[in-house]
Amino acid sequence: MKKVTVVGAGKYGSMTALRVAEYNLASEVVMTDIVEGLPQGLALDINQSRFVEKFDTKVSGTNDYKETAESDVVVITAGLPRKPGMSRMDLLEVNAGIVTDVTKQILEHSEDPIIIVVTNPLDQMTTLTAEVSKLSKGRVIGQAGILDSSRFAYFISEKLNVKMSDVYALTLGSHGETMVPVPSLCTVSGEPLVDILSEKDIDELVKKTSEGGAEIVGLLKTGSAYFAPASSAATMVKSIISDSNEVFPVCAWLEGEYGINDVYLGVPAKLGKEGVTEIVEYDLTTSELDALREASKAVKDKVSELNSINSQ
Ligand code: APR
Repeated sequence: MKKVTVVGAGKYGSMTALRVAEYNLASEVVMTDIVEGLPQGLALDINQSRFVEKFDTKVSGTNDYKETAESDVVVITAGLPRKPGMSRMDLLEVNAGIVTDVTKQILEHSEDPIIIVVTNPLDQMTTLTAEVSKLSKGRVIGQAGILDSSRFAYFISEKLNVKMSDVYALTLGSHGETMVPVPSLCTVSGEPLVDILSEKDIDELVKKTSEGGAEIVGLLKTGSAYFAPASSAATMVKSIISDSNEVFPVCAWLEGEYGINDVYLGVPAKLGKEGVTEIVEYDLTTSELDALREASKAVKDKVSELNSINSQ
């Protein structure tokens, strides 16, 4: 049985811990945070739901990284969420400091964990975690594509008034402006989306999807989305701890796949007990492939911004 640590017991972290615990696949889920009492209180509350929800996974809360020792999977959610009007990029500097600190502390107590990063700005934070941790690249993975695909699927199901289970949606690329929707591979009851909706309708749904997180931030006013994000991160944990090797769109390190090198980017990947076990190369249309390559350039530019912060 596996041990999972969730760093950051805020909205995203506590919901991820709950969902992972409810899968009943891990022996223990540890939540840690800098706020004293927060992870402990939330852990008690979750544990008191175990009898009702019937799961054995023990949840604990701590402010001490010693209790995260020998974690198999770590989810980093620590950081500031976006405030209204704030872009992911605004978050860069402050969250880079937090993620660097957290990664070092985790590595002091767990030798070779798989780390899933969700803190925004996602592409940079995933790159930073890989650099700081020095883990093999397949063991550091970012979460974004499952969430964006799920948002896209929701908007498709609403538009066509069809069941969610009839929809398959896929987005690749980066989390943000250079998200790459893949309409050619999206289907409704097995039928290609491109045969059902006009290009204009699809473009509208794509726009709603890429603005999906900002729309929620605007409504909440005091935080960002966490139900769908937590489902997405917990699904990644499930695939890893159950070694299912299912294919998900995740932020993974590319070494030539899709003709792209040396960058973390949202691509389909198999997730198993060693982390990313294979990047899966789907047949994309020329324009989708071009968009993916453009996204890789945008992420590389953003990563160089990160380097300029580091060298200050
Ligand atoms: N170590 C541990 N926890 C930390 C640290 C740190 N160095 N710094 C901050 N935290 C904790 C905060 O105390 C807080 O409990 O991270 C938690 C963040 O929780 P929320 O403010 O509720 O934010 P949340 O909605 O969970 O989002 C977290 O995910 O989607 C992204 O953009 C979002 O980067 C943000 C992250």
